[in-house]
Amino acid sequence: MRDGCAALGMVVSPRMVCGWSSCGTAGFHPAVAVDGPDHAAAQGFAAAGPGAALVPELGLPQRHPGVAGQRLSGPEPVRALHAAVREDAWGQPVLGALVDALVGAPRATAGASGGRRLGRFDHLRRRRKGMRGMRSDTGELYRAFAEREARGNSPVYQALAERVAEDEQSCALLDGLPAAKRQPNLLFGAVRHLGGPVTEGWPAFRDWAAEHWAEVSATMLERRTQTNEAGRCATLLPLLAALPQPLALIEVGASAGLCLYPDRYRYRYLAGEDGCERGTGTPVAGFGVEFGAEASPVTLDCTVSGPVPLPGSLRERLPEVVWRAGIDLNPLDVRAEEDMRWLESLVWPEQTHRLDRLRGAVLVARAEPPLLVRGDLNAAVRELVAQAPAGATPVVFHSAVLAYLPPEEREEFAATMRELPGHWISNEAVSVLASVARRLPRPAPTGSGLFALALDERPVAFTGPHGQSLDWFAEA
Ligand SMILES: C[S@@+](CC[C@H](N)C(=O)[O-])C[C@H]1O[C@@H](n2cnc3c(N)ncnc32)[C@H](O)[C@@H]1O
Repeated sequence: MRDGCAALGMVVSPRMVCGWSSCGTAGFHPAVAVDGPDHAAAQGFAAAGPGAALVPELGLPQRHPGVAGQRLSGPEPVRALHAAVREDAWGQPVLGALVDALVGAPRATAGASGGRRLGRFDHLRRRRKGMRGMRSDTGELYRAFAEREARGNSPVYQALAERVAEDEQSCALLDGLPAAKRQPNLLFGAVRHLGGPVTEGWPAFRDWAAEHWAEVSATMLERRTQTNEAGRCATLLPLLAALPQPLALIEVGASAGLCLYPDRYRYRYLAGEDGCERGTGTPVAGFGVEFGAEASPVTLDCTVSGPVPLPGSLRERLPEVVWRAGIDLNPLDVRAEEDMRWLESLVWPEQTHRLDRLRGAVLVARAEPPLLVRGDLNAAVRELVAQAPAGATPVVFHSAVLAYLPPEEREEFAATMRELPGHWISNEAVSVLASVARRLPRPAPTGSGLFALALDERPVAFTGPHGQSLDWFAEA
């Protein structure tokens, strides 16, 4: 400290409150105070004359020339530590270990420091615990899944999800994971991937999952729900057929890229409900006919209502795809057995037709694997569109993807798509894209789980989430 500078005064300290208090004890109150982390600069200011610098002991060995030091006794400085981590990182074993180490460290040094710092990091542990419990109600998540998604589709998953929702021990285990990693599909997929029992009833599932929780949770942390459903091509086909040919397809959120082969599958459109166009009473003609790529191992069935544009020419010739590429945060490789096993684990147990379809589509893709770019769709889409061959119509499309993005990133993507050349086909849950939701001619039936299919933000149909139905709007 330098003498005679109390009139202006300056405090640079880890915690301002400590500095104010120390100055008061010394008999002055600074008019200006600066809180900063740079101890050398703080001493430099003191040397230059504006006032006193409060620095921790570890800063003193590099004492600035002309600055005298005085050890302070109390109050003890306190530094608040904050950990800034990605939301989905809470609960990762490595982060948990770090927090535990921080909490333990003061206790380890307590003997050496006379116990003065005991328990200083406890707020971190509290925060960690608090965040776990705060994020979501896991039981509620599983109850909603059982009711809204599994009911009518998978009695096995419905029963398991209902039991998980009621089971404190299972919910506590799940609460140790980041909120985004507690999803029922991820838990059930992970257990199946590891060879655990999902169809043998609740006690077998619960006991196995608890016993193998280290592997189950590691799989849930490592993997994502990346269900890749080639069946969605049946809902895209009428739009693709209506665009100027040939096409350059770019799928964002492509998973393994199985939707990039609409020209390699066979199709069977079936008249829905009463066999009539919606609300017209006019029988839908010519349905039930199978057409598409000769000898394809995949035939996609799709139940149709409304005036879906399926011109006769489509039965002669599918859209011509001259280039196909995709983007995914974690592209799956159709040639990698482990990746394909994961995709199979994500198919719900009773849906054996979807498993057959997946295996067939993997064979199709393996014959000519797609170009898949690892990255965020917002960061990578422009460059990929720019690579599309001249003379082909670029078509960017996506299904069951944008729900994973926060609203502002969806908006960013929509703004980019409005600028890019070519066309944009979206097939997402009805409320996911605001510009499409606003233009829907009628609301989707409550709880139906239907998607809204749109071309350049103009809604044209409701679609079954796995491509199993297509309800074309009369107004489209
Ligand atoms: C449910 S899968 C759908 C896959 C495929 N579109 C289909 O319809 O079968 C969602 C995919 O989107 C990917 N994804 C999610 N957010 C993404 C992002 N910001 N950028 C790129 N891919 C993303 C996931 O990794 C996952 O593979």
